[in-house]
Amino acid sequence: MTSLADQAIAWKDNHLVLLDQRKLPGVVQYVDCHEVADVIHAIKDMVVRGAPAIGVTAAFGVVLAARMRFRQSADNWQQVIEQDLHELLLARPTAVNLKWAVEKMRAKFSGISNEDPEQSLLHAAERIHQEDIHANKTLGNFGAELLRGGSAVLTHCNAGALATGGYGTALGVIRSAFAQKKITTIYADETRPWFQGTRLTAWELLQDKIPVTLICDSAAASLMRQKQLSWIIVGADRVASNGDVANKIGTYSLAVMARQHNVKFMVAAPTSTIDMQINSGDEIEIEERSNKELTTVHNQEIGPHKVGVWNPVFDITPAEFVTALVTEKGVIESPNSSKIKELMKS
Ligand code: MRU
Repeated sequence: MTSLADQAIAWKDNHLVLLDQRKLPGVVQYVDCHEVADVIHAIKDMVVRGAPAIGVTAAFGVVLAARMRFRQSADNWQQVIEQDLHELLLARPTAVNLKWAVEKMRAKFSGISNEDPEQSLLHAAERIHQEDIHANKTLGNFGAELLRGGSAVLTHCNAGALATGGYGTALGVIRSAFAQKKITTIYADETRPWFQGTRLTAWELLQDKIPVTLICDSAAASLMRQKQLSWIIVGADRVASNGDVANKIGTYSLAVMARQHNVKFMVAAPTSTIDMQINSGDEIEIEERSNKELTTVHNQEIGPHKVGVWNPVFDITPAEFVTALVTEKGVIESPNSSKIKELMKS
């Protein structure tokens, strides 16, 4: 049976329907997107979040943009739509899947001449969605092969079905390994400031009857010191061509702590998250979000009004800290430029 998390992005009755991740786990509610502006707002405001999920959503956003622009002006919609794509690309800067999906959709519509583009673009978006689920299942199995029986694992943020087309990347590996009875305990970081771990990872796993133990982010070092943790398993928002990884803030500190405590560090991501156009993580734009994410909880102020805030929501983990990069095309141990180049050619 498909879970609610697996149906977080759906095309129904000629529009896009998104499970509102801002409201979980307390309220299960959906947001209807009839226009590309609704999709841009949903990505910016994190109705939908997680790199592959943002990519899939953007692909459907292009369908809505093309529908509107073709109706307004069948002659030059391919030029007019560029402004929509530009705004879509600005919605969130770090996850490369957004750019990847928009470029795929642009390549699709450049091949269409004067006919109504909606059906063929919808088909392309659905394909991007299905291929992401397939990639996650494949990489989930590859990642699970790396785990020995009796493993305790820690994950950060939410890299599950909610963050992807379905099944998940880091949680895809964890799902597969759990089904193979290789996992004893799954620890999830709460993931300040937006609480993706508490609100989404815990909810998603419990929906599937997979037990999970929540820790506050700052308990991770003690966890590594006191318990037999085998792997830290995370997703990625962008992997540079040298293997540096942009992911949720706090990932880098986990990787450093993992090195200190001899815990292996796995990054699970589809190849749509690998950006071959950049040489290293230094070139990745790190999104900074509103002060309110730190100074309020559930709209309740917890910090003084005028306090200064720095809120980068991603960080860069240098490739040297990564034990294995797991993709649908295969696994790279100790990733570097030449290994990634080889993988991307296959
Ligand atoms: O700010 P978010 O919630 O969009 O950040 C998401 C993450 O950092 C995920 O770990 C990443 O996108 C991988 S999702 C499979």
